Amino acid sequence: MRKNIVAGNWKMNKTLQEGIELAKEVNALVAGASLKCDIVLGTPYVHIVDVVKSVDGSKIGVAAQNCADKVSGAYTGEVSASMIKSTGANYVILGHSERRAYYGETNAILKEKTDLALANGLTPIFCIGEVLDEREAGKHFDVVKSQIQEALFHLSAQDFGKIVLAYEPVWAIGTGKTASPEQAQEIHAYIRKTLADKYGDSVANDTSILYGGSCNAGNAKELFANPDVDGGLIGGASLKAADFFAIISAF
Ligand code: PGA
Repeated sequence: MRKNIVAGNWKMNKTLQEGIELAKEVNALVAGASLKCDIVLGTPYVHIVDVVKSVDGSKIGVAAQNCADKVSGAYTGEVSASMIKSTGANYVILGHSERRAYYGETNAILKEKTDLALANGLTPIFCIGEVLDEREAGKHFDVVKSQIQEALFHLSAQDFGKIVLAYEPVWAIGTGKTASPEQAQEIHAYIRKTLADKYGDSVANDTSILYGGSCNAGNAKELFANPDVDGGLIGGASLKAADFFAIISAF
């Protein structure tokens, strides 16, 4: 079901104690508010259990930022989708450009991770997006299409209906350079059309497509006002409760 979602991606920030504090601050701000979106906190693995306990789960979901591409076993340092589910988290961010760029995550690997996330009842927040060279060469449409096709189009329509997409132009992540509302709407509409061509209008119209990349309190309202932008995946501005809440309040 298409929903407005504002999801924080804390990345590798905050000690456990700082993370609990931040989650409690967000929870307190959200408690008295009339919300027009779902809220998700994407925390490091070690924070998840405590963050789940620190927030009102009816208003705030919790996401891991990755999961293993294997079920279980001798994979030192990895964390499986079933382990994440057992903590009380209900989402997992997959395919973030930092994982693609620094940890070699390919669409084929992400396909495995998506299947395991879904099999364990986690909602993937699946990230796609082009690098600057690709945008400048006019290839951004093809790039996002192949990312979706290769990692997700093996899914049945029913399973695809459980996916949240996050379009994050890599040139906008952590750079202070945001896609303009027009650029965001243009590619979000293209992504929705790509989904409609494969799964039909109903699945496409029911899919939440978030924007990510230097989204902040100053630009969220304009970005979220677009018909095909259903919220945001927020990095830097999710690390302070007041900033994150201002983005939530942009709906
Ligand atoms: P940013 O990060 O908001 O700091 O640009 C977004 C993301 O990487 O998800």
